[in-house]
Amino acid sequence: MVEDSGRFDALLQEDRTFPPSEAFKTQANISDPNIYEEAKRDPEAFWAKFAEELDWFKKWDTVLEWNPPHAKWFIGGKLNVSYNCIDRHLTTSRRNKAALVWEGEPGDRRVYTYWDLYREVCQFANGLKSLGVKKGDRVTIYLPMVPELPIAMLACARIGAVHSVVFGGFSAESLRDRINDSESKILITADGGYRRGGIVPLKQNADDSLKNADGQGNGAPSIEKVVVLRRTESADDKMVNGRDIWWHDLMQGQPLTCEPEQMDSEDMLYLLYTSGTTGKPKGIVHTTAGYLLGTYATFKWIFDIKENDTYWCTADIGWVTGHSYIVYGPLANGATSVMYEGSPDFPERDRFWDIVAKYGVTILYTAPTAIRTFMRWGESYPQKHDLTSLRLLGSVGEPINPEAWMWYHEYIGGGNCPVVDTWWQTETGSILIAPLPGITTLKPGSATRAFPGIEAEILDDQGNSVGPGGGGYLTIKKPWPSMLRTIYGDEERYVEQYWSRYPDIYFTADGAKLDDDGDFWLLGRVDDVINVSGHRIGTMEVESALVDNPKVAEAACIGKSHEIKGQAVVAFVTLKDSVAISDAIITELKAHVATKIGAMARPDDIIFAAELPKTRSGKIMRRLLRDVAEGRALGDTTTLADPAVVDSLKEQYGEEE
Ligand code: PRX
Repeated sequence: MVEDSGRFDALLQEDRTFPPSEAFKTQANISDPNIYEEAKRDPEAFWAKFAEELDWFKKWDTVLEWNPPHAKWFIGGKLNVSYNCIDRHLTTSRRNKAALVWEGEPGDRRVYTYWDLYREVCQFANGLKSLGVKKGDRVTIYLPMVPELPIAMLACARIGAVHSVVFGGFSAESLRDRINDSESKILITADGGYRRGGIVPLKQNADDSLKNADGQGNGAPSIEKVVVLRRTESADDKMVNGRDIWWHDLMQGQPLTCEPEQMDSEDMLYLLYTSGTTGKPKGIVHTTAGYLLGTYATFKWIFDIKENDTYWCTADIGWVTGHSYIVYGPLANGATSVMYEGSPDFPERDRFWDIVAKYGVTILYTAPTAIRTFMRWGESYPQKHDLTSLRLLGSVGEPINPEAWMWYHEYIGGGNCPVVDTWWQTETGSILIAPLPGITTLKPGSATRAFPGIEAEILDDQGNSVGPGGGGYLTIKKPWPSMLRTIYGDEERYVEQYWSRYPDIYFTADGAKLDDDGDFWLLGRVDDVINVSGHRIGTMEVESALVDNPKVAEAACIGKSHEIKGQAVVAFVTLKDSVAISDAIITELKAHVATKIGAMARPDDIIFAAELPKTRSGKIMRRLLRDVAEGRALGDTTTLADPAVVDSLKEQYGEEE
């Protein structure tokens, strides 16, 4: 069931509203509210009309073929995503417009115009071809937030290779699992990246990932070549003969043009791994035309992009937000997209505001966890800078609490920028629920309504539609262009995960409520996925990492609410008989999880239990654990180590889980 309804009943009493100003409405890309009805009457016609704005080598024959749970969009169409993101702008006044404005953490800067980007992408695409990469081959990209990351993605798209970007915060082991699942031929990495003044040892991690778990042999046998970008000059002595090649050597002498591959609408564009409810991450499959259209359309209308805007999304391209709203959506629209490599508090806590002021950012897209951090740091940091260039603000990744929304609106937006709270998922490819800022009346804490052409509905356990005031599971009732097509190599899981809860209806695994105006209020995940600072972490992944430690007998993880991160990981651990509880073990286990998965999965708390509370059928009683972690079930959680305590708690909670 959807939990915490008490908290969200309070949220629904939030009654501040912000209708669009006349000034914003007049200039908005879309300001006619009839668009919702029009799209609802004929979603396929709506999407087809939007698809005319893309460049096609050959137009489609059929807009949609829906054999649940499989959708094909724009069947028969031929196009290329890199062509749509670059080439088509070269014949317009955008030719010498900044496409990417990049700033490294140490303060170095680079600007790529569309024409610059064209040459870099073509050269790198030719480089990949010279390494034997062909259409359909998978390429894993493990890079810091540098311009070469979007260049590598676009180069793959240009030649029809499938990219799989792995976030630089993932460990060697997580990288290895993702390489092996995708059977990538090439790994693109860097010697390192800058983060909070230090160097993230990407090449070292990449080298470790290519070894077996015992440090020997080949842990990722599909990899033929490793392309290494020199960024930090920290791994010049680590190049492996015959396997590794420097990015700059690969580029050397490559032709400046490269014919874009004519891709079918439904050809795979990329894979992106995300956490689910098992220990194994899911390779989400996105295809060419539908994905491009979804990101193009939502970016144009929700961010109200104009020719002169300077847009900045602060996400990392290692997550879907960066794919859709740093790279594909903005570039398909011919926008100027800002990219920043490092952390918001380096060298000082005003780095973001320094960037906004320096580049005259007009549209800012960030996450609630960042906003809450800025709130805690205080207004003085943004107040040191002129932020008056901003005209629109966005939020993504987790529910935004009304206080954070108001602070963002007031202190960053100066009280006159619409705040668009955008709900979506790796699987949805593009934003599905968000305001249209020239139409929608905003409410702090609500993502408001579904994008035109999207049919979102809240259902109860039995599959009945939930009306105003009610809560339940968020579902999407009709296919949409940028939806995932399957889980790579695991069709069964695709069907089971998304389409089995309600037949032929997409199950989001998010809880939501509807208010009296029909606006959506998102309540968070209803499955075993924890959202830590907007990053999805599967409880099973953390549990597997913990039991991998020889001192651990059993582990169960849950998400606990956290003031800044939204949620934090709490692990309940049963140690092996011979092992005594100590502070040193807590430190060791936290570090173990960080090494196995990545620092973002490190548990905040480890609570030892002599046994884990389970139902008679052997299921871990997670609700009980959540109540223990939040301090609702036991004042002093350390007493959980006494088996009698577990028994009495189990009695109190019954067997309902
Ligand atoms: O629980 C929802 C939450 O993030 C999940 C998707 O995570 P991921 O695939 O990593 O994509 C994150 C960026 C799109 C969702 O199932 N989520 C995302 N955006 C919001 C949100 N929850 C509430 N409000 C949002 N705006």
